[in-house]
Amino acid sequence: MACRRGALIVLEGVDRAGKTTQCKKLVQALQQSGRAAELMTFPDRTTTIGQLISAYLEKKSDLEDHTVHLLFSANRWEMVPLMKKKLEQGTTLVVDRYAFSGAAFTSAKPGFSLDWCMKPDVGLPKPDLVLFLQLSPTEAALRGQFGEERYETSAFQKAVQQKFEQLIKDPSVNWQVIDASQNVEDVHRDITTHSLNTVNKAQNLPIGELWK
Ligand code: TMP
Repeated sequence: MACRRGALIVLEGVDRAGKTTQCKKLVQALQQSGRAAELMTFPDRTTTIGQLISAYLEKKSDLEDHTVHLLFSANRWEMVPLMKKKLEQGTTLVVDRYAFSGAAFTSAKPGFSLDWCMKPDVGLPKPDLVLFLQLSPTEAALRGQFGEERYETSAFQKAVQQKFEQLIKDPSVNWQVIDASQNVEDVHRDITTHSLNTVNKAQNLPIGELWK
């Protein structure tokens, strides 16, 4: 019998919602329950494309806005063969940001439609579950200052949050909104419950295509 595939689980949300902490805790919880699970992060700053993106985010270089958008997308596409291989081998992938960040961040810039921003990512492996860590700007502000990277200002983050709210309305994607204002363990419990259900359901289904 063919091996049961792993699930593709994405965590999204504005800055300081706790995505990275929760991704790591979810991978540990899945592994402790006897399932193969690995963490992936976008942008993946280790590749040649990822290094261009990283320099841009660190404000060490400037890139034209369409160009950097396409680089973020290319940085996902270059990982697709590896993602599919791992999923087909039965490994669940927990992904810190994906095409939804791509569309939300660029479309928050003047002159970009959400529709144009989604196009380059059409056909990527479709997540079986997208967990949106919801945190109001007021609650985010209580968690301390923004960092120094590009996009880390409260005005831009508010615009990004509005774009995410539009993306969440798309019923073709399995969104689950998580209240990220709860304590770390309560958020983790909610995320783990949704993820275990998804891992069980996804194992016999083919990998879908995003936004197609
Ligand atoms: P992070 O490494 O702290 O998650 O930051 C990555 C930054 O890049 C964050 O501000 C979100 C932004 N971003 C995009 O603009 N487009 C994308 O496609 C992705 C994945 C992230």
